[in-house]
Amino acid sequence: MSTRRCALDADTQRAGEQFARVLRPGDIVLLSGHLGAGKTTFTKGVAAGLGVRERVTSPTFTMVREHECHNDRGITTLQHCDVYRVESLAEVLDLDLGELAEESAVVLIEWGELAESLFGREVLHVTIDIDDDDARTLRVEGLLDDERRDALEQWAQL
Ligand SMILES: Nc1ncnc2c1ncn2[C@@H]1O[C@H](COP(=O)(O)OP(=O)(O)OP(=O)(O)O)[C@@H](O)[C@H]1O
Ligand SMILES: [Mg+2]
Repeated sequence: MSTRRCALDADTQRAGEQFARVLRPGDIVLLSGHLGAGKTTFTKGVAAGLGVRERVTSPTFTMVREHECHNDRGITTLQHCDVYRVESLAEVLDLDLGELAEESAVVLIEWGELAESLFGREVLHVTIDIDDDDARTLRVEGLLDDERRDALEQWAQL
């Protein structure tokens, strides 16, 4: 588990941008945190880190937004999802998020813990807690191989 404290929204965004470096094609990232915790802010950073050129906004009503990525790491697409408004797991199943990951995409799901049971395979879980002083504490968990664990330990120190 790696944690990182972000005092300002720009820090949370930068943490997302640097987190993008540990991502690999096919990754599914579940983002948890209360309303306004900074899930979309973090995602904007991830998008920047993956070379998304267009503006990233909250997919609350569309549920999934697809962004083309420009990087040399084989990640061609970012699928940005928000499952806050879904009424049942069946509705999330219909989105076929596992399929969206395919080989060359990364899927990032706001309120991902609601859909956690749908993913049998390895996922990364990012939790954002709001501290008393309004800073955020980011926590990354998951079944990680040594290389990723090392990379995330470094990420936590940045
Ligand atoms: N340290 C911080 N990190 C992130 N956001 C912060 C921080 N401090 C203040 N904020 C503010 O908190 C808000 C976070 O909004 P954001 O849309 O990213 O949250 P969210 O978790 O996606 O919300 P929702 O649950 O509605 O999807 C922004 O208004 C941002 O400016
Ligand atoms: Mg959001």
